[in-house]
Amino acid sequence: MTSFVAGPGRAGAAVRGHLRVPGDKSVSHRALLLAARAEGRSTLRGLSTGEDVTHTLRAIRSFGAGVDTGPDGAVTVAGGVSRLSEPEAVIDVGNSGTAIRLLAGWAAGIDGLCVLAGDASIARRPMDRVTLPLRQMGGRIDGRQHGRFPPLVVRGGGLHGIDYLLPVPSAQVKGAVLLAGLAAEGETTVREQVPTRTHTEELLRLCDADIRETPGAVTVRPSILRPFDLDIPGDPSQAAFWIVAACITPGSAVTVDHVYVGPGRAGFIDVLQRMGAAVELSNVDPDTSTASISAEYGPLAGTAVGGVEVPSLVDEIPILAVAASAADGTTTFADAAELKVKESDRIATVVASLAAVGVKTEERPDGLVVHGQAGRPLTGGQVDSAGDHRVAMAMAVAALIAADPVRIDHWEAVATSYPTFEEDYQRCVS
Ligand code: S3P
Repeated sequence: MTSFVAGPGRAGAAVRGHLRVPGDKSVSHRALLLAARAEGRSTLRGLSTGEDVTHTLRAIRSFGAGVDTGPDGAVTVAGGVSRLSEPEAVIDVGNSGTAIRLLAGWAAGIDGLCVLAGDASIARRPMDRVTLPLRQMGGRIDGRQHGRFPPLVVRGGGLHGIDYLLPVPSAQVKGAVLLAGLAAEGETTVREQVPTRTHTEELLRLCDADIRETPGAVTVRPSILRPFDLDIPGDPSQAAFWIVAACITPGSAVTVDHVYVGPGRAGFIDVLQRMGAAVELSNVDPDTSTASISAEYGPLAGTAVGGVEVPSLVDEIPILAVAASAADGTTTFADAAELKVKESDRIATVVASLAAVGVKTEERPDGLVVHGQAGRPLTGGQVDSAGDHRVAMAMAVAALIAADPVRIDHWEAVATSYPTFEEDYQRCVS
């Protein structure tokens, strides 16, 4: 286990500068999986360097895709359906729920057997949300407790299309079913009542898949995919740490360039603006759904977060809870029971972490309540990330407004999504 001590000397520090964050993790996983199926050579620039995406990269290589990284960091994938066959060894997805769920759908369309397994946290994450629809498609897929938990065993092939209404708003499930649909007989439709991130649809369009979109529904048919070149934009979930850091730390101003701000990802910006934060977009490019996001320190007021906006900010709740700690008044996060089945039970982990630095919080079955203490520093303390990268980074930001150092245990988890976080922290905090 490694620990990160934020401070001493951090209290009173300001966060300043222009930065870029790693390539978007959700886009990176999908780009690799589609490039592996595309007939030819695809080039991916700005791929996430986090461990989660590295697991997906190794997975497609085990299935037979050619993967090379050039001196400029661009990743070339030599793909094609005839190249792909059953891997010799168990596929290790590490800590990545996105990798295992997307791979389950993707591998269901490839002849042969594969086993998908990961770390102790993955072994606790629900998989019936993907095994059930894939079985309805004729997929032969199983796992611990009748397919409810990993490891998963997938015997690919024999799929037919279905018309599926998502029982939980989940872009991972939507993605898994659509990826399986590429290899299923007939049409596969996924319907959603609450919109979720649209990366799978966007990338399917990019590689000329036979896809049809209507409000609340996406339909895909078996397709021969065209290879593609993609410049993966910065991850808004990583940008959010710097944006909140600037909002809560006196004297701060940051800009994060070339960030994805497309559908289902930018909800944290709306919440911060609702709290009164000075957060603005510039260099908006509608073709790539990217923008620069700037933020400055200023007073924040509590707000209520819930309902249909939750999927658009679900990964940002730990850092928004830190913003709420610095606000005047109370902030409630509701309709977010999904947080209990993330890399940790994120409701419990965030509540315990904030309480450890003196913030008054309440745990709710579907969220949490944070009593803001505007103008009053947090205390120092010791927190345990519980192996959850987003909680670890959120607490490093919280430490900026603490009177004494904050020690964050299980800091190594940060590498799953943002291996250069500490470097950026040292550079931007002064
Ligand atoms: C993701 C979707 C979300 C999100 C996760 C990444 C994706 O999960 O929390 O970090 O890339 O599709 P759910 O699909 O469980 O909502």
